Amino acid sequence: MSLPDRVEIVEVGMRDGLQIESEFVPTDTKIQILNQLIDAGVRHFEATSFVSPRAVPQMRDAQEVLAGVRKRPGVVLGALAPNAKGVERALQSQADEIVVFLSATESHNTKNLNRPVELSLRDIEDIAQLVQGHPIRRKGAIAVAFGCPFEGDVDLGRIRTIFDHFARQGFDAVTLGDTTGMATPKLVRNTVEALRADHPEIKISLHFHNTRGIGLVNVMEGLRAGVTSYESSLAGLGGCPFAPGATGNICTEDLVYLLDEMGVDSGIDLRALIKVAQRLEGIIGRGLPGQLMKAGPRLNLHNYDVAAGAVG
Ligand code: COA
Ligand code: ZN
Repeated sequence: MSLPDRVEIVEVGMRDGLQIESEFVPTDTKIQILNQLIDAGVRHFEATSFVSPRAVPQMRDAQEVLAGVRKRPGVVLGALAPNAKGVERALQSQADEIVVFLSATESHNTKNLNRPVELSLRDIEDIAQLVQGHPIRRKGAIAVAFGCPFEGDVDLGRIRTIFDHFARQGFDAVTLGDTTGMATPKLVRNTVEALRADHPEIKISLHFHNTRGIGLVNVMEGLRAGVTSYESSLAGLGGCPFAPGATGNICTEDLVYLLDEMGVDSGIDLRALIKVAQRLEGIIGRGLPGQLMKAGPRLNLHNYDVAAGAVG
């Protein structure tokens, strides 16, 4: 089985992870977590989002978060932005990357962005104009790309049209968002192959949620299909507040463990990452879905002499 030697992990915990949390996490805490993740080797982030603070109050401190993180060479601090206003704010805040998003279906786009897909496609054109001449990276994101909680299966033709639109507007990377964990390995394979045939020059990133327990199985299929960019969330936090039944993203440290064991380099130190995940669990104040932060890597052995035994 041939897998890529190296992949990029995009940490989305401080954005997708926190946006569903009703209790506001202090700005300093977000900044601390991001700095600790950089220390652990994470190099690419969706660190916040420039959306309406009324729609997602947790992201109201987007500018302060970006300003507070220690800048280091090679680290990409990206931010989600759905419209020109969001992109203007991202430019002012000197984000390294904008991630411009919309949903593949009318119903989810209406819940999430309060507009038909057609208007969001036009917003993308406005944004492309706005960022002309700026060195900022441009990435597109298509939510509910593998299934919609309101409409079910999503026609691949719709995904291809939106992907093509991003490509024509000068975006060189596009994320396929599995907002409510409806992706399956077969869907991943078919979608990636079709999009790659349309636009081999565009970098595809995969964004899975573990809602149905097969998030990392989908990553395996992505790796087999040659995809080299994955989005995940520290401790498996996360979910879209505007998608019923949404639960956490695939968990970053569980993903790094899988990659380490498969000999795929992510540049991230698993043990350091686990410590940050445990800190995050303390901050959120309830058990989070990540597995590695509970069990440790497989060769974390236990002391035989102190372990309980079954004496009949
Ligand atoms: N950042 C901050 N404020 C914004 C904004 C942005 N990117 N875009 C719009 N606003 C403000 C407007 O200035 C306006 O404020 P005002 O009433 O004080 O003048 C208000 O929001 C309404 O603007 P409007 O353009 O009519 O937006 P809307 O009510 O149709 O909502 C969105 C559209 C996109 C702003 C809103 O649906 C949104 O923020 N959605 C994000 C959802 C999300 O983050 N989902 C999770 C990711 S999957
Ligand atoms: Zn998501």
